[in-house]
Amino acid sequence: MSNQDIAMAMRDHHAFMAQQLQDRVQSIETASTTWESARDVVVAYLVDEVLPHAAAEESTVYRVGAKLESLRQLIESMLFEHVVIQGLTEDLRESSQQSRAITLGAQVAKLFEVHAEKENRFIIAVLEPMAEINLEEVLGDMHELLAH
Ligand SMILES: [Fe+2]
Ligand SMILES: [Fe+2]
Repeated sequence: MSNQDIAMAMRDHHAFMAQQLQDRVQSIETASTTWESARDVVVAYLVDEVLPHAAAEESTVYRVGAKLESLRQLIESMLFEHVVIQGLTEDLRESSQQSRAITLGAQVAKLFEVHAEKENRFIIAVLEPMAEINLEEVLGDMHELLAH
């Protein structure tokens, strides 16, 4: 696949995940089940999908980006945001009041949306046109990074 194809699949995957997360967060407020089980569904999505996605990025796209002087500082800040997402996941897991869970859920969903859009605009868009970078090779078999 070309860099362009890979970049598109990565953007699609970000959009998909942001929507999936947002929908699950919404359920903490509106679920017909208990709010606790809706909270647990959000935590499970973060632990099973979002955090593995972040880890896969760190060993692929971020690793390559960090070698470019122009991206080094940005990659540092993106790594920091991964830590914040992890912290919010733990806070959400431990939340014992619905209002607190709604707030934390909204925070992590918005942070992820903005974080993913920063990757789209300021990392993927920079690497995509570089002739010396082969995104397919960079990603390897990291299916966590591509739309299925
Ligand atoms: Fe990320
Ligand atoms: Fe990402």
